[in-house]
Amino acid sequence: MTTLHAPGETTSHPGAGLVGRVSAPGDKSISHRALILGALAHGLTEIEGLLEGEDVRRTAAAMSAFGAGVERVAEGRWRVVGQGGFGEPADVIDCGNAGTGARLIMGAAAGFDISSSFTGDASLRGRPMSRVLEPLALMGARWLGREGGRLPLTLHGGKLSAIDYRLPIPSAQVKSAILLAGLNAAGQTRIVEPQPTRDHTERMLRAFGAQVETEDAADGRIVHLAGGQKLQGARITVAGDPSSAAFPLVAALITPRSEVTLTGVMINPLRAGLIDTLREMGADLTLSNARTAGGERVADITARHSALSGITVPPERAVSMIDEYPILAIAAAFATGRTVMRGIGELRVKESDRIALTAAGLRACGVKAEEEPEGLIVTGAGAGRWVMGGARVASGGDHRIAMSFLVLGLATRGPVSVDGTGMIATSFPGFSELMSSLGARLDAR
Ligand code: S3P
Repeated sequence: MTTLHAPGETTSHPGAGLVGRVSAPGDKSISHRALILGALAHGLTEIEGLLEGEDVRRTAAAMSAFGAGVERVAEGRWRVVGQGGFGEPADVIDCGNAGTGARLIMGAAAGFDISSSFTGDASLRGRPMSRVLEPLALMGARWLGREGGRLPLTLHGGKLSAIDYRLPIPSAQVKSAILLAGLNAAGQTRIVEPQPTRDHTERMLRAFGAQVETEDAADGRIVHLAGGQKLQGARITVAGDPSSAAFPLVAALITPRSEVTLTGVMINPLRAGLIDTLREMGADLTLSNARTAGGERVADITARHSALSGITVPPERAVSMIDEYPILAIAAAFATGRTVMRGIGELRVKESDRIALTAAGLRACGVKAEEEPEGLIVTGAGAGRWVMGGARVASGGDHRIAMSFLVLGLATRGPVSVDGTGMIATSFPGFSELMSSLGARLDAR
């Protein structure tokens, strides 16, 4: 993987317990989808609680380049006026750091008789796109890109035929790209997911008036969508992001005298693997006020400082917590015994090689971390013993690696400095302010 040299360095200092009640920022996956479906639909879509991170802003700019009216009305409140389809953009679409943006937009664009060219930052240009380009080519789209289908690339779509496709890797991005292309393909798109992935696209397509069926069969979950369906603008309320909420929650679990509540966190079971895992490790996590918001179940989650024990995380759980392994590894550094994380090879092709960077950062902070090709094993210090810290950690320009190690530094013996922290704005622009409001000491330089 290419690592980014991103700006910003932040030091986190060990200190007193974290205390407070804050609302979780809007979910990144849902925010991308709301903008894309709004642009594909006819008429007005009103979005509440949109995550205004850099990744999502890139998707907003892309939707306007494809012809939609996109307007920010107030913080988190956006209006999209869709034209019922995509027109040809006049310039290259720059998706920045966002794999979700790039892959979903390519799927949506494939359904139209237009050429569109895509690029991104050094990290995104290093990430595999063939996983979406192969099924899109089977449907009839053409593309020309770099080796392995890497960006920059140009896609030409239109006149697609539906496919029957079994996902070779459990990826909601691939499933979603095929579903979005399938909206404008002739025939029935059928996708088999041996391991069900996050279902936000299916849920949101229904909110925009489309018919999408899912059934659980012996070989996995099957998703069906008939081509030629028209979407109607909708009102979307974006639920809180469990992947972002994970950082302050784990910070509270590892820092003595902490009690933190994150409100409005999405608890969709296809995203909630970290909650189950932390509870198995002995975490004191309480869910309250469970309700439905924007078509998703949400709850308020309270975390209190806890004595954690290492466990073996079931590999089949990876799909429901794939973005949470770096912060789980931080919790594991404070647990008693070994935490074994396997079946996580996908982490090597995320915004960075997250297995390598997590292991390297933990070792720099005095924690035993063993890398496997598709796994990571962390031996924790155990209750009442210090994790040393006192190091400078390379984030590789990866927002989640950066946030994970800033959380670690709140409970180590010495402060932890992390480079490339400017990238945190891709997914959690208010991270430092939110953590500081809970009592964390973070110094940015
Ligand atoms: C996402 C799916 C996951 C996840 C990413 C967001 C989505 O990627 O890692 O942050 O919004 O569909 P994969 O589908 O590639 O596993």
